[in-house]
Amino acid sequence: MEDLSLHILDIAENSIDAGASRVEIRITVIVTDDRLTLTISDNGKGMDAETIEMVKDPFFSTKPVRKKKFGLGIPLLAQAAEECNGAFLIESHPGRGTVITAAFQNSHIDRKPLGDIGATMAVLIGGHPYMDFLLSCERDGFSYKLDTSELKKELQGVPVNLPDVLKLIKEDINSALKGEIYNSGEA
Ligand SMILES: Nc1ncnc2c1ncn2[C@@H]1O[C@H](COP(=O)(O)OP(=O)(O)OP(=O)(O)O)[C@@H](O)[C@H]1O
Ligand SMILES: [Mg+2]
Repeated sequence: MEDLSLHILDIAENSIDAGASRVEIRITVIVTDDRLTLTISDNGKGMDAETIEMVKDPFFSTKPVRKKKFGLGIPLLAQAAEECNGAFLIESHPGRGTVITAAFQNSHIDRKPLGDIGATMAVLIGGHPYMDFLLSCERDGFSYKLDTSELKKELQGVPVNLPDVLKLIKEDINSALKGEIYNSGEA
């Protein structure tokens, strides 16, 4: 996977598969610590301790075997973080939800670019208009937040998955992140 936005999409799809009604995606850069942290949390069905241990194995998946043999979403993100002096953590409780955290040395030469976060959010929101998504990005003094539960109220009944609405969402995110969370040349 070329950029972090594709990892985010993959991990958020796990949350959707787990029956979540809300997925929160947080991107935090702490410049003084040279750290970029991604957190994806959901209120889906969660995992027990035994499953958490197994998911880091690329051969573990609960998807039907005929359709899919390997589960790669989690191992690939864990590997991407570990290759950048980073860390990877799964916290999950059956019936309550899951929090996935991947931390990276921000300046590490192998740290993948963020990619197109706006497009990723538009895909998630457009594909799952009845779910709620939160995107929260912080870097020192900068902060950006988009919460579809608030956006839907502002839209007063206009569907959040209309192409024009999705385009606005994508553009709003990318123009806010440009020069703040994105490094030059990203997205
Ligand atoms: N947020 C989550 N909530 C509940 N279970 C999860 C969650 N994320 C992952 N899992 C469990 O971990 C397994 C492995 O996830 P992973 O993303 O690595 O592979 P996959 O989703 O099965 O396949 P792939 O991502 O390659 O399409 C999933 O099949 C699922 O059982
Ligand atoms: Mg997956």
